[in-house]
Amino acid sequence: MEKSELLYEGKAKKLFAVAGDESKIIAEFKDDLTAFNAQKKSSETGKGALNNEISTIIFKKLEENGIETHFVENLSEIEMLVERVEIIPIEVVVRNVATGSLVKRLGIEDGKVLSPILVEFYYKDDDLGDPIITDDHATMMELASSEELEVLKAKARKVNEILLPFFKEKNLRLIDFKLEFGRDRDGKILLADEVSPDSCRFWDINSGEKLDKDRFRHGIGGIKVAYEEVRNRILG
Ligand code: TMP
Ligand code: ASP
Repeated sequence: MEKSELLYEGKAKKLFAVAGDESKIIAEFKDDLTAFNAQKKSSETGKGALNNEISTIIFKKLEENGIETHFVENLSEIEMLVERVEIIPIEVVVRNVATGSLVKRLGIEDGKVLSPILVEFYYKDDDLGDPIITDDHATMMELASSEELEVLKAKARKVNEILLPFFKEKNLRLIDFKLEFGRDRDGKILLADEVSPDSCRFWDINSGEKLDKDRFRHGIGGIKVAYEEVRNRILG
């Protein structure tokens, strides 16, 4: 499996073409950390490897439970081979508990259990700061068809149903998370990007301690130790 040209560099990953195989790409997980649309930046040695490892475990778990993902195989500590997909520019956020931007936007009490849970769409556009959008915005902008939006919502809910008990068993509360999806050559929708402490919020079930990127967002520190704790718990 030979890495060829750099196709794209995002805030947390680099994507490379694969020599001789147009259907795959290699995702390289970076140690860089950003928050608030990259207004806050840092780096944490070993973070990329941890996110690669954690995402691998979660993609495998989801595949076992009928969610198709772009994951193919792990190539190294920081490299994952994935199916090449056309990313749908919508960030799908699932919320079980109110925190973060939801609390800021609507004044809901931080930590309130949400019933029913929320599934939200954000337009993936850094220049605009990833604004929240409605289904009508998404179809008007031709980001996805209304049928695809229903598929995104259904898949996001199913991911939540699989991951909630999985993490609960590890003494982790899955507070909320962000998913990205892509279309393969046949138009089939696959879960893409990553599922890691960069893209999810986890609180320890007993202490409520934050074990995710909020430690960076809020300057709490101990980022690597927290990500290692998540890795160790889901391996255990
Ligand atoms: P929010 O409360 O800041 O909107 O975040 C909701 C969830 O989405 C949380 O688990 C963190 C994740 N997230 C990302 O993965 N990338 C982002 O750019 C943002 C803003 C949030
Ligand atoms: N990933 C986003 C950024 O870099 C925001 C976040 O996760 O808080 O800026």
